[in-house]
Amino acid sequence: MTICRRSLVITLTGCSLAFGTVYTATVFAQPEERPDAALNMLVHEPPTMEDLENSELHPELKKVIRYGHDLFTNTQQLRGENVFNDMNCSSCHLGEGRVPFSAPVWAAAITLPDFRGKNQHVNNLEERIAGCFAYSMNGAPPEYGSDEMLALSAYHQWLATGAPMYPDKPIYGRGFPAPDEPAEEPDYARGEAAYQENCSICHQKDGSGHYENGEYVFPAPWGDGSNNWGAGIARVETMAGFIYQNMPLGQPRSLSDQDAWDIAYYINSQERPQDPRYTGDVAETAERFGPTFHNRSLYGQTREHDGHVLGDHDNFGEKGDLKPWNVGMPRFENLSEE
Ligand code: HEC
Ligand code: HEC
Repeated sequence: MTICRRSLVITLTGCSLAFGTVYTATVFAQPEERPDAALNMLVHEPPTMEDLENSELHPELKKVIRYGHDLFTNTQQLRGENVFNDMNCSSCHLGEGRVPFSAPVWAAAITLPDFRGKNQHVNNLEERIAGCFAYSMNGAPPEYGSDEMLALSAYHQWLATGAPMYPDKPIYGRGFPAPDEPAEEPDYARGEAAYQENCSICHQKDGSGHYENGEYVFPAPWGDGSNNWGAGIARVETMAGFIYQNMPLGQPRSLSDQDAWDIAYYINSQERPQDPRYTGDVAETAERFGPTFHNRSLYGQTREHDGHVLGDHDNFGEKGDLKPWNVGMPRFENLSEE
């Protein structure tokens, strides 16, 4: 077991080094070296924590941004209060939320407020962050305007330093762009085989992740320690994009398109905590939030090999009966149609 752990650590270190090189070479390169796709796009290289220390910002602001960075990379400090799974924000937004194709979070700071399809109204940055708390962290967000929210927003906005507000070009590396449509329909058995081969060494055969001294080394892609059914990554295309662009760790874009879709289909065919929008009936919930969300997840569908209906349970994970206060909160209802 000790040998196994050691080799895991070595693998990870090797990966992290490769990871740094890949991104320095292809993404934060000089404009003339960037891929063609980036030419007519907004390419932004966010500042680093070292840049923060060297900057002229007010010392009090620096403290708050540092706290925001700390919350982002160690969100587990809010466990039991705002976070009820094993994730940090940086479990999905790799490289401290800075890395292209890993949903770099500064993009939200320069495009919000804007209308959001998922909740059908205009959201600001705090509300967007609150969304990831309610679904991706299976939790309930800190209050708007609280120290935690202000610090997280400050961190996001500071990462956007120098980027134009409401840019007129698409943002290079935004989100988790899905790989090309696969030649064959995504397949559970193929996905399972590819997951066991490429991913289980870190994430475990049963998807429960790898923990040491109560802290995760590798997070859980499904099960109670993972995000709930309402999280963006529960959509197959988003999971395929995340995997293709970021996994295995340190080897982005090394899997075939087909493997990425198959593995995404397999992972998103496993159970996870209930969607906080659950009405008490999975078919009804899947239908109500179909057009805005679940048409792209497998929620409510029957798993072929064992007849299990995905999401048909009232396990909300560690948060139990706690309802995230931001989910379904009405906004702007008194504004008249123009
Ligand atoms: C389980 C994975 C996961 C975790 C954990 C997670 N997020 Fe996200 N986040 C996503 C996905 C998926 C998206 C949507 C990406 C897309 O647009 O396709 C997203 C989008 C965002 C955006 C908007 C980015 C944009 O381009 O507009 C922000 C801001 C954000 N997350 C902040 C956070 C914060 C803060 C936390 C921690 C409290 C967090 N996220 C935790 C998966 C995650
Ligand atoms: C070398 C170890 C390693 C390998 C191999 C690996 N991952 Fe990961 N994975 C990580 C780490 C570490 C994170 C969290 C990033 C962080 O904390 O910096 C992560 C994050 C994730 C996440 C988002 C968080 C979550 O748990 O849902 C998913 C999904 C994921 N990996 C899927 C995969 C898939 C699919 C493969 C195989 C194609 C894979 N990983 C291979 C280490 C690994």
